[in-house]
Amino acid sequence: MTIPTTSVSGEPASRFLGRPRSMLIGAEWRDAASGASIDVRDPATSETITTVPSADGVDVDLAVQAARAAFESSEWSAARPVDRERWLLRLADLVEAHAPQIAEIESLDNGKPLLIAQRVDVPSAVDFLRYCAGWATKLEGTTVDLSMPGFRRNEFVGYTRREPVGVVGAIIPWNFPLLMAAWKVGPALATGCTVVLKPAEDTPLSALRLAELALEAGLPAGVLNVVTGYGPVAGAALAAHPGIDKIAFTGSTAVGKLIGKAAIENMTRISLELGGKSPVIVLDDADPKVAASGAANAIFFNSGQVCVAGSRLYVQRRVYDAVVEGVSAIAAKMRIGPGLDPKTQLGPLVSEKQLRRVADYVKVGIDEGGTLVAGGQRHGERGWFHQPTILAGLPESARIVQEEIFGPVLVAAPFDDVEEIAALANGTSYGLSASIWSNDLKRVHRLIPRLKAGTIWVNCHGLLDNALPFGGYKQSGIGREMGRAMIDLYTETKSVMMMH
Ligand code: NAI
Ligand code: MG
Repeated sequence: MTIPTTSVSGEPASRFLGRPRSMLIGAEWRDAASGASIDVRDPATSETITTVPSADGVDVDLAVQAARAAFESSEWSAARPVDRERWLLRLADLVEAHAPQIAEIESLDNGKPLLIAQRVDVPSAVDFLRYCAGWATKLEGTTVDLSMPGFRRNEFVGYTRREPVGVVGAIIPWNFPLLMAAWKVGPALATGCTVVLKPAEDTPLSALRLAELALEAGLPAGVLNVVTGYGPVAGAALAAHPGIDKIAFTGSTAVGKLIGKAAIENMTRISLELGGKSPVIVLDDADPKVAASGAANAIFFNSGQVCVAGSRLYVQRRVYDAVVEGVSAIAAKMRIGPGLDPKTQLGPLVSEKQLRRVADYVKVGIDEGGTLVAGGQRHGERGWFHQPTILAGLPESARIVQEEIFGPVLVAAPFDDVEEIAALANGTSYGLSASIWSNDLKRVHRLIPRLKAGTIWVNCHGLLDNALPFGGYKQSGIGREMGRAMIDLYTETKSVMMMH
């Protein structure tokens, strides 16, 4: 049973959105030094709902200094693991207590159906912060028996210590804004790091709300700083800053590479969670109805704006028509609308830029010889909606088969032989995830080791667990978040050898 530390808040999102927001640097809520700001838009209407500061290098530098000072302060560095655990638990409790408001903010800012924000984004962030809280008291080194030639074994003690890596720069995307913030802030605080968090310019609001709640939870000033700003300005300044020790990034592979290059100049540690083009593989023993509903969910959930979206559907010939017809029927019936409308199943895309990207890819797919099986058009004239779309008949080399789109666009293709499917599935530069739909254990177990992907689902797709490592092979990234593996990303190992 959890004992609530705060009463449940009925505070509406409008209380938070009623005035221009500022960003948190140290203990202070500030505007950008330049005075510049960014309009935050509602993707369902394209109207401005509030503004946030547009930080540049000057603001980023202040935030890094604040994070450094906090990292070195005794209030933080001498805090006991159990104190860090308690701060994280309090933060989780506060997010949970304000869940209705935060879900509404997330839905308005990103466009996603409120139900998804309520059932997935906010509770997943709360659970993950609690999972990280538990880690604070479970960080361990090892003692090692030493064998150097010419010395007696009992003259030495060898052991390792886990130390926080230091100041973490976290740059996150707009598809699950609060959850991505939690993925970075949770392990950083659990291990004793401090953070400068830069949310995506399209969805800065829930990170700012999280920062307010962190202060309310009593987290020392400067441990969590949030700077809002554009990627090529604020993000680039953070990635290249010599005062940060680690950069944690989730976003596109192209930007991940820029960040990696900037980081290596300063030997800043990096973890990169990047794009994907994940295959959904349906073997012919699968129930076509179950597979169709799984495949539809794999691509249309969150309007396809999911790094693990199942954007390539490969179905064994015997059940191909049944599965593709099943997905098309689901696509045709999906209710498209604003996130705050309770009937909505498919919300808008996050931005005009993203809508254009998706629409352009659909055009490219048709030019490349693709046949439209479902959708294919922008939906409505207002806001940034796009129909759930399926294309078939494309060569594997087509751009729309190879490149990440990040929208509700699926390419479908049949295959004949299970022996050929691993090569097809592995045939892009990405390797984030894959799903297999089958109950034939022999075929499933033979396929799993042959797929070059960080996560394989069997008879499900897109589910994540806090205790299971998550990350990509190939161009899908470097490092594993979540689970025990995440501790490696936020700590240095120090070896100690002591002669006595
Ligand atoms: P992006 O990679 O530009 O944005 C992600 C984050 O990186 C944002 O906070 C952004 O401000 C920051 N950023 C952008 N340029 C930067 C730079 N030069 N230095 C440092 N930080 C920078 O992604 P974008 O442009 O919003 O979306 C384009 C495509 O990226 C999508 O269509 C999708 O394919 C992919 N993407 C993948 C995500 C994932 O979860 N794997 C999440 C978001 C986008
Ligand atoms: Mg927005």
